[in-house]
Formats: sequence, C-alpha cells, structure tokens
Amino acid sequence: MNELITLNNGVRIPAIGLGVFQSAPEETVGAVETALKAGYRHIDTAAGYGNEREVGEGLRRSGVDPADVVIETKVWVSDYGFDETLHAFEKSAAKLGVSQIDLLILHQPMPQHFERTVAAYRALERLLDDGRVRAIGVSNFMPRHLAALREQTTVIPALNQVELHPYYTQDAVQRANAEHGILTQSWSPIGGITFYPGWGDDRRSVMDDDTIARISAVHEKTPAQVMLRWHLQQGRSVIPKSTNPVRIAQNIDVFDFDLSAAELADIDALDRGVRGGPDPDEVDPSTWGLEIPEA
Ligand code: A2P
Repeated sequence: MNELITLNNGVRIPAIGLGVFQSAPEETVGAVETALKAGYRHIDTAAGYGNEREVGEGLRRSGVDPADVVIETKVWVSDYGFDETLHAFEKSAAKLGVSQIDLLILHQPMPQHFERTVAAYRALERLLDDGRVRAIGVSNFMPRHLAALREQTTVIPALNQVELHPYYTQDAVQRANAEHGILTQSWSPIGGITFYPGWGDDRRSVMDDDTIARISAVHEKTPAQVMLRWHLQQGRSVIPKSTNPVRIAQNIDVFDFDLSAAELADIDALDRGVRGGPDPDEVDPSTWGLEIPEA
C-alpha cells in the first residue's frame, strides 16, 4: 500500500505522506482522518500552516495507533534561535498532542540571519539527542545553504523538502542531497504550485501537460498518479495535498504500475527551471510577520 524509505539515521518513513499546506483548519481534521483510514501513515504539516492542532485531532479521530504514524512538522523562522526552537518543539508537540515528534525540520533557511538558522538546527540536534524527535531535517535549502549548515553542525539532515514537480526538478538540489545521504522530499509533487489560485497569473498547470496526459492514457492512471509514480521511481518522498476523499485515495493508489525509463526521461525533460514558490534567497522571511502562537 505504501513504500517505506529508510532515512540516513535508520528511521523508516512511508514514501507518501498527506500534505496539509493550505488545508483550512476546519478541513484538516477530516482530511487527516480520511487519509489515515485510506492507508496513509505519514502526515506533513508545519507550525506556519496553523493547523497542527487539527492534524492531531484527525489522528485521534482516525483510531489509528499514533505509534504507526509518522508526523512531520516544521519550525517557522520566527522561532529560530537555540532556545526559541526548543520552545517551538514544545508548542508543536502540544498542539499535535504527542510527546515525541517523528520528523522535525526547519521550514527554510534564513540566509540573511544564517546564525539563527544554525542555532535552530543545533536545537534540533539537541532534541534528537534527547529522544524528543526521531529525525531532523530541513526544507527549501539550496546546496549552498546545505554546505554552510554542514560546516557548523554535526548531524546531516535526514531530508530536505523542496519544491519539486515536472516543471521544476531542481537537479542541483537533488544531486547535493544524494551526495550527502539526504532524502529529497518533494513539496507540490503534483505541481499544485503551478495552479494554486492567487500564486501568479502567467502560469501553466502541469496537471494539463500533454506529455503527462499521454503517459496517463497509456497506464490508465490520472496525471497526479503518473507524477507521483515518477517521484517514487526516482527515490523521492512525496507529500501530495488534498482535502478531497476521492483524490486522497487516488494519490496513494500508485503501487500497481511502473513507468518505463523512457517515460521517466520524458517527464524529466519537462523541467522549465522556474520555481513557483518564493526564492529562499530573495525573501527575508523574518519580515513576513507570521508569529506562531503558544499551544
Ligand atoms: P484538493 O485539495 O481540492 O484535492 P500539491 O500537493 O502538488 O501542491 O497539489 C495540491 C493541489 O492539487 C490542491 O489544489 C489539490 O486540491 C489538488 N489535487 C490533489 N490531488 C489531486 C489529484 N489526484 N488530481 C487533481 N488534483 C489534485
């Protein structure tokens, strides 16, 4: 039903998790409950999404043993710093209703305040040492950020979650991750960022791509399923977001077909080299003004 991927510290996580970015709090409980009942055992959230409490509630309502579910969440930049990040763990754990977090990662680098990014990561190392988290990692780190982090910290991130879909394949990031044993985890794996309303008008939805449509027809699978298969066959973890029960089920029903090497290459060739999300180097997230409330 789901493949497991072994992280560089031996912890195993399901390759497919449910994403809840932009899932409204009132929809999140149902989406998480539906996903767990459909066989998902991995949920990806973030303090900055404002729905950790609802993820915890969905987990409890599902009746699935929490010990069997990997919960991944992210520390937001306003909580970077050693003590601040230790406290961010407490906030997230309390909202999620868990005493241990499976995967705790930094939401993005703060290139303009890298010393705070490093201090935050050192707090993750401490939490790992203390058994409060099972694995630690990063998100939206470019190779130069990974290199700078490596110089000042000890634990290699277990994963790096980055924007990655057929229109933005981030080859350099994938190579840097692989070189250091860091799992590449794709956000917007089915290209939601290419069609989310309000994220720019001049975009083409990868969901409507002709090449993906051709491959979908061959396998009698949907474009989303073809894209997810492409990630899995290339060794990436994925966290497709949906609040729709039919699509939630569809997005995990991807273990009964294989793309050929030629089909994988055709999808690779769709890369346009243009990100849909914010460039971590161009935005100073400390000015975004998002504060994470206490639990
Ligand atoms: P919805 O929540 O209504 O299903 P991504 O994870 O790549 O960012 O994509 C998320 C977007 O894709 C959301 O808008 C989600 O909407 C939509 N979506 C999720 N699963 C599917 C699917 N199987 N087919 C089409 N659209 C999907």
